[in-house]
Amino acid sequence: MTLTYQRGFGNEYATEAVPGALPQGRNSPQRAPHDLYPELVSGTAFTAPRHENRRSWLYRRQPSVVSGRYQPYTQTTWQSGADRGVALPPEPLRWHPMPLDGAAALDFVDGMRTVAANGDVEAQAGIGALMYVAGRSMARRAFVNADGELLIVPQQGRLVLTTEMGVLEVSPGEIALVPRGVVFKVGLPDSEAGAGVSRGYVCENYGAQFRLPELGPIGSNGLANARDFEAPVAAFEQEEGGYELVKKAGGRFWQAPMKHSPFNVVAWHGNLSPVKYDTANFMTIGSISFDHPDPSIFTVLTSPSDTPGTANCDFVIFPPRWLVMEDTFRPPWYHRNLMSEFMGLVYGEYDAKPGGFKPGGASLHNCMVPHGPDEEAFSKASHADLKPQKLDNTLAFMFESRYRFIPTAAALASPALDTDYADCWAGLKDQFKP
Ligand SMILES: [Fe+2]
Repeated sequence: MTLTYQRGFGNEYATEAVPGALPQGRNSPQRAPHDLYPELVSGTAFTAPRHENRRSWLYRRQPSVVSGRYQPYTQTTWQSGADRGVALPPEPLRWHPMPLDGAAALDFVDGMRTVAANGDVEAQAGIGALMYVAGRSMARRAFVNADGELLIVPQQGRLVLTTEMGVLEVSPGEIALVPRGVVFKVGLPDSEAGAGVSRGYVCENYGAQFRLPELGPIGSNGLANARDFEAPVAAFEQEEGGYELVKKAGGRFWQAPMKHSPFNVVAWHGNLSPVKYDTANFMTIGSISFDHPDPSIFTVLTSPSDTPGTANCDFVIFPPRWLVMEDTFRPPWYHRNLMSEFMGLVYGEYDAKPGGFKPGGASLHNCMVPHGPDEEAFSKASHADLKPQKLDNTLAFMFESRYRFIPTAAALASPALDTDYADCWAGLKDQFKP
């Protein structure tokens, strides 16, 4: 599939699938071109500061409000917010790759499971860290999440995201961001072609929308450049026939029949849009003398909280990069911190855990939980010949949050939970030589 995209992050995009469908000069003329219905979708409060304000005008064949009645829908593995009933172990946690069995019959919505979550959807604070395992495309089925935006990190299998604003194809190594309230469905072309089950990570962000981080002394270039984000161009489905719309609202799931496709937007303009981003375009900055900067130097997107510099969520990546520092222990150091860290591995090897942390797995180091390189990584890095070294063929990432993540009861009971995780540090001896 060859798709066309518009570049930029939060730009004033403007696109029409039919020439002349986009009104000029006014947003809601008395009669819009081609008798389309104008509809405004606001992702922020009307009065949010201009630099944070996100909204788009959609020109569509029928407004979104045209749908059947909602009935409860059963999705028991996608949980929202911190479950205070779970006795959270105050130690490092790790999961082996999420098992794929049984997932061939599931689609993106039914195959979604919360691994850990914090905050509260009703307070618009916190995030969920989820994984999907799915083998079926959504055909005449669409999904909308009123609880937050979705940051999608495919790990295995491409995704075709058909959204109200158009279509995005997202491969492992790329990420996608679907704003709160935007209807979409997920196609799995690789799974449909027989390549097996698709798997990936999702951050469900209940808080402030993700944005590019400030760059401070870095200057006007670096990290993720705005022009490398891609938004879809307007596209609408022509086939007649009904749809099922699944909606998540307040942590509950609902379904409603529709007599038409919700993907009926012929033109749109505005700065609220799904986008995708290829992490290969991330300009990685590191030390060229000694030591290394805090991992915040790898922040792709940030969702701020009300406290400056203390994020609701930072999305941080550990992509291929050169290590050149002199007289430096080069893997991440031993540490514990206020922020809580949920990590995943898209492909390759993570330098602090060369053996135990596998693609499709996850780790969780909550607030003030000590962690760091395992015994093997410590020993290798302490004695390595410090030549310039390329960390290649690797992509790890972190959802880092000021709020402690609570794993779901299912994640703690899962056979994928690595009950031997703490053993990876057990061999670190006292080697003090007075
Ligand atoms: Fe850490």
